[in-house]
Amino acid sequence: MTPADQSRRAAEICRLAPVIPVLVIEDAAHARPLAEALVRGGLPALEVTLRTPAALDVIRAMAGVPGGVVGAGTLLTPADVRAARAAGAKFGVSPGATDRLVAACEDEGLPLLPGAATATEVMVLLEKGYSVQKFFPAEASGGAAALKAIGAPLAQVSFCPTGGISLKNARDYLALPNVVCVGGSWVAPKDAMVRGDWAAITALAAEAAALR
Ligand code: 3PG
Repeated sequence: MTPADQSRRAAEICRLAPVIPVLVIEDAAHARPLAEALVRGGLPALEVTLRTPAALDVIRAMAGVPGGVVGAGTLLTPADVRAARAAGAKFGVSPGATDRLVAACEDEGLPLLPGAATATEVMVLLEKGYSVQKFFPAEASGGAAALKAIGAPLAQVSFCPTGGISLKNARDYLALPNVVCVGGSWVAPKDAMVRGDWAAITALAAEAAALR
């Protein structure tokens, strides 16, 4: 899969809803009810971070949820890419981008949202053919103002900003012409998952889905 094809597919996934939930899940038993709750609320694209031992099992379980499009986040190595693909991930997200990581995604045919935080990082990825990127860490890198400024000379790149985004500031990003969606963990709080309060998560998802 070429970078251009990857970016096209990543853009389609990003356009499914204004928010991609960023999920850190400890217990694979939460996977299915959580995905169902988020999809029910209007957020079909789900990023499962590979930061917990349960993450690959979670991806496997979520891959079977009707209406959901599950991806793997925190991809750091080619081995992560292969494992995510084998578990059923339909897209990948990385906090940054290395040559080995992007090559593995191209080989595996896994659409990638590669991470960038500076104009040079954005340009290096654009040179490779990635016109849709993750802006990370969004708030710590200057927030919506920084992304707006990057967009002036680099208007051909679209972003999914992530990192420090919540209901309070999501609109600032979504108002920018170079933002396709935002990513955030606020729609799946750990305490609600532990309580099994899936209705609360559906309500948060619905609120997020209505942002745009
Ligand atoms: C991450 O990869 O942790 C994302 O950037 C999520 O950040 P958040 O928890 O600040 O939404």
